[in-house]
Amino acid sequence: MRAPWTMMMVSCYYFALSFLILNRSSASAQPFDYPTANLSTTWTNNVSAPHTVNFTDGSTVRAILLRGTFGPRFACGFYCNGDCTFYVFAVFIVQTNSGGGIVQPSIGFPQVVWSANRDYPVSYGAILNLTAAGELVLRDVDGSTVWTTNTTGKSVAGMNLTDDGNLVLFDVNRSVVWQSFDYPTDSLVPGQRLFQGQQLIPSVSSTNWTAQKGLISLQVIENRGLFGYIESNPPQLYYSNLVPDSNTTIDKGYVRFLNGSLSLFIHSSEPNDPDDVMSIPQASSAQYMTLMPDGHLKVFEWQTGWVEVADLLNRDIGECGYPLACGRNGVCSNNQQCSCPVSSSPRIDYFRPVNDRQPNLGCSEITPLTCNATEDHVFIPLENVRYFAFVTDMNTDMETCKQACLNNCSCKAALFQYGSNSSDGSCYLPSDLFTMMNADPNLVHFNASAFIKVQNARSPPSSTSQVPNKKGGLTTTVIGSIIGSVLVLFVVVGFILCILHKRRRNAKMEEEYIKEVPGMTTRFSYAVLKTATENFSKKLGQGGFGSVFEGTLTDGSKIAVKCLEGLGQVNKSFLAEVESIGSIHHVNLVRLRGFCAWKSERFLVYDFMSNSSLDRWIYHGNREHVLEWERRKKIIMDIAKGLAYLHEDCRQKIIHLDIKPQNILLDSDFNAKVSDFGLSKLIDRNETEVMTTMRGTPGYLAPEWLSSVITEKVDVYSFGIVLLETLCGRKNFDKSQKEENWHLLAVFQKCWEQGKLLDIVDEHSEDMQTHHSEVVEMMKVASWCLQTDFTKRPSMSTVIKALEGMLEVESNLDYNFTDPRLHKTTVEHEKDFTPLLASELSGPR
Ligand SMILES: *[C@@H]1O[C@H](CO)[C@@H](O)[C@H](O)[C@H]1NC(C)=O
Ligand SMILES: *[C@@H]1O[C@H](CO)[C@@H](O)[C@H](O)[C@H]1NC(C)=O
Ligand SMILES: *[C@@H]1O[C@H](CO)[C@@H](O)[C@H](O)[C@H]1NC(C)=O
Ligand SMILES: *[C@@H]1O[C@H](CO)[C@@H](O)[C@H](O)[C@H]1NC(C)=O
Ligand SMILES: *[C@@H]1O[C@H](CO)[C@@H](O)[C@H](O)[C@H]1NC(C)=O
Ligand SMILES: *[C@@H]1O[C@H](CO)[C@@H](O)[C@H](O)[C@H]1NC(C)=O
Ligand SMILES: *[C@@H]1O[C@H](CO)[C@@H](O)[C@H](O)[C@H]1NC(C)=O
Ligand SMILES: *[C@@H]1O[C@H](CO)[C@@H](O)[C@H](O)[C@H]1NC(C)=O
Ligand SMILES: *[C@@H]1O[C@H](CO)[C@@H](O)[C@H](O)[C@H]1NC(C)=O
Ligand SMILES: *[C@@H]1O[C@H](CO)[C@@H](O)[C@H](O)[C@H]1NC(C)=O
Ligand SMILES: *[C@@H]1O[C@H](CO)[C@@H](O)[C@H](O)[C@H]1NC(C)=O
Ligand SMILES: *[C@@H]1O[C@H](CO)[C@@H](O)[C@H](O)[C@H]1NC(C)=O
Repeated sequence: MRAPWTMMMVSCYYFALSFLILNRSSASAQPFDYPTANLSTTWTNNVSAPHTVNFTDGSTVRAILLRGTFGPRFACGFYCNGDCTFYVFAVFIVQTNSGGGIVQPSIGFPQVVWSANRDYPVSYGAILNLTAAGELVLRDVDGSTVWTTNTTGKSVAGMNLTDDGNLVLFDVNRSVVWQSFDYPTDSLVPGQRLFQGQQLIPSVSSTNWTAQKGLISLQVIENRGLFGYIESNPPQLYYSNLVPDSNTTIDKGYVRFLNGSLSLFIHSSEPNDPDDVMSIPQASSAQYMTLMPDGHLKVFEWQTGWVEVADLLNRDIGECGYPLACGRNGVCSNNQQCSCPVSSSPRIDYFRPVNDRQPNLGCSEITPLTCNATEDHVFIPLENVRYFAFVTDMNTDMETCKQACLNNCSCKAALFQYGSNSSDGSCYLPSDLFTMMNADPNLVHFNASAFIKVQNARSPPSSTSQVPNKKGGLTTTVIGSIIGSVLVLFVVVGFILCILHKRRRNAKMEEEYIKEVPGMTTRFSYAVLKTATENFSKKLGQGGFGSVFEGTLTDGSKIAVKCLEGLGQVNKSFLAEVESIGSIHHVNLVRLRGFCAWKSERFLVYDFMSNSSLDRWIYHGNREHVLEWERRKKIIMDIAKGLAYLHEDCRQKIIHLDIKPQNILLDSDFNAKVSDFGLSKLIDRNETEVMTTMRGTPGYLAPEWLSSVITEKVDVYSFGIVLLETLCGRKNFDKSQKEENWHLLAVFQKCWEQGKLLDIVDEHSEDMQTHHSEVVEMMKVASWCLQTDFTKRPSMSTVIKALEGMLEVESNLDYNFTDPRLHKTTVEHEKDFTPLLASELSGPR
């Protein structure tokens, strides 16, 4: 039996080879598993140790005890990961063969479920000693005691790793003297209990134990239930599972993780009926539950590798309810989209993303709060913004709440919730501000306002000069105060310029003005752009406002340079674009990298999108590939998210006004990004504005353009058209069709009337035909977006919910999509749209 096994290992698991050889020679007394140890045994964390296996993820285990064979099994011993400079003594789950050998499966690695010394990891050469006196001691290579069970004199007779994964020191009577289950770290295994007074605390990293402990903890509190906290002063509660009030004598509460359930008990003796059960998929193999550094409590199961089978707290608190969902100071809205708080009037950025590309890492203050200049503390007010921490005491009024925060320097925000009357609400004043969540006022039955304390930059903090210069020469503080000063200057200069501007347009002044755009977007020099675009030689297309050129910067990154042509109108839109796009970051919006103003020429520099625009892909005819259904679905969702962000998550609502396939760009992975804010106009929330000029592109214009009441619902309408075109694979006005089918909306209406929606699904895609029922569901969303009465159209966040299937499409819809007035007027107005029609013809931007 041995020889063929070894042969197999050589070919499949060469990492395990050395183990098998060692196993044969040194562990011959224990041919299979080795779950117990006697007193006076020592193990050294060095290459001579038997049962050492290196894994391809960089981890190494040196098993001391192993319980069971053939399958995922518990073992304990030394474990390291990453660069393996530090080791923990741990209980972990490994894959074993029938000979008790630890093997490297094709996917999946050892999983630590308990460790003795994660805060004090030891080095290579460390020694674990189960002493004659019955104490288990871990000594580092220098001889210092790092960890001990403190069991000297307690008649310990031996050590046992149980079936459950519990490491036990037992006495002569085989009763438990010490057990690892009493000292949980970040994980529980089935059968393990978390008792009152114990807590789970995640490691910050599974590969680096020198990094500090995480901020999150989960614990059982006497008579009350299970509570999740994030560290702060005082800690902030993000999860609670209260037990029903009960007058029975309760002295212990605990949570038990069993196959199929997580139960919360409040009685000392085990009750028959759990007081609360969170259900977990029945285990078909090894499971473990772990508290993640971001606060999620997840259950993993061994299938092919470790697979997440449950995310337990989500049901109660939602994705946005985790304190670190969007990091510190972040705002989380549907689908875990993250943004930074922005003050709207005047529009000043007090926060910026810690990392532009990962908005979920949170936001940092541009000017740090300082207690030395409390007179410069002001609030950014945010409406309909809730906080995860539980606020219960009522009867405070809003002003008192805000004042209390201003009076206490450690207060970072005044969070206020109230029912109908803002003089009777509850106030919460955190000393650390974690993720806030956007609350849909239609869904929550209370009002929630957040006032975030920020430092006005007028008097820069005196500490500025004390901070040593880092690489690059400027510290955050310096940049912060410079930006702050520039911002103030910018507002003042902007105001003056507006007055001057009204009197007489002055191109030179305009350029000065542009220079003051705060340092969020790069200002490129004309020479750089000229070189990057090889003297504007590679033209990508011609848009409504000018040509677009391809370019490559010296760092190798590709850009699209939009050269704005013509004056007047263009100057104005240029500023609008720089101002609005420069401050907006979202994965589904094209990133403005910078701009260039040279003489009277204006350029905008965008990230280059290698798959050009959506129109290239959806219209039958000149497209090279037919997009499959999953891809179309993703693109539609991406557009919806980009728009929802513009409409609902920016402090100042942004209406795009020109949504069409030409303005949806696709990157190399077909992630869709909304582009071209040239026509967008900032308007305040909850306000509609009378537009003096009609804008946009015929065919995508909502009917209310005729009545001049323009809200963000015009974008929802245009989105509906784009959605329909994407599903049908044709233009909404297509003269290559039979004359009665020229207008897609007329065809759509006919299909509704005849109940034959399938007829218009893109016939060039078999994949689309295969998924016809999903496609038809999505057509219902389109018809909702295309309601003539704009008040009946859903908001973009509602569209996202409908697309996700979380929400039913409104049933009482009007299926008359062909407003005769619109078509007549559109044709009559077509001349007025000449410059915009040009943009419709444009290729990639
Ligand atoms: C422990 O000691 C007993 C007898 O003293 C022996 O039978 C057993 O094999 C020992 N176990 C180990 C793991 O060495
Ligand atoms: C590993 O440690 C043991 C016991 O301390 C020692 O005998 C052995 O020489 C060490 N092996 C190596 C390679 O250092
Ligand atoms: C594991 O890796 C270490 C260092 O990379 C090496 O010294 C050791 O021999 C390897 N052990 C086995 C069992 O392959
Ligand atoms: C283990 O502990 C005993 C005391 O119980 C001690 O005599 C022995 O030297 C220790 N072994 C090592 C390798 O430190
Ligand atoms: C052992 O006792 C020491 C000192 O009393 C204490 O710091 C340590 O946490 C104890 N170890 C365990 C595993 O209880
Ligand atoms: C070790 O634990 C197992 C349960 O997993 C138990 O059956 C066994 O009796 C224990 N061994 C000792 C020596 O206590
Ligand atoms: C083991 O059990 C016997 C009999 O019940 C008892 O006298 C003895 O004190 C126990 N030993 C320990 C260490 O608990
Ligand atoms: C581990 O984390 C610490 C503290 O964050 C850091 O200084 C160290 O470089 C990290 N080590 C590795 C190997 O990543
Ligand atoms: C619990 O006891 C208190 C006072 O002893 C009483 O007022 C309350 O109604 C009791 N609650 C229940 C659920 O019995
Ligand atoms: C969990 O329960 C299911 C159904 O009772 C059973 O089939 C499965 O073997 C159990 N898994 C474990 C790991 O105990
Ligand atoms: C200020 O707020 C902190 C944290 O909220 C609190 O601990 C402290 O007691 C407050 N200080 C005063 C004077 O109210
Ligand atoms: C606040 O002022 C004190 C003394 O005036 C100074 O030591 C400290 O560095 C200042 N702190 C900040 C953040 O400016």
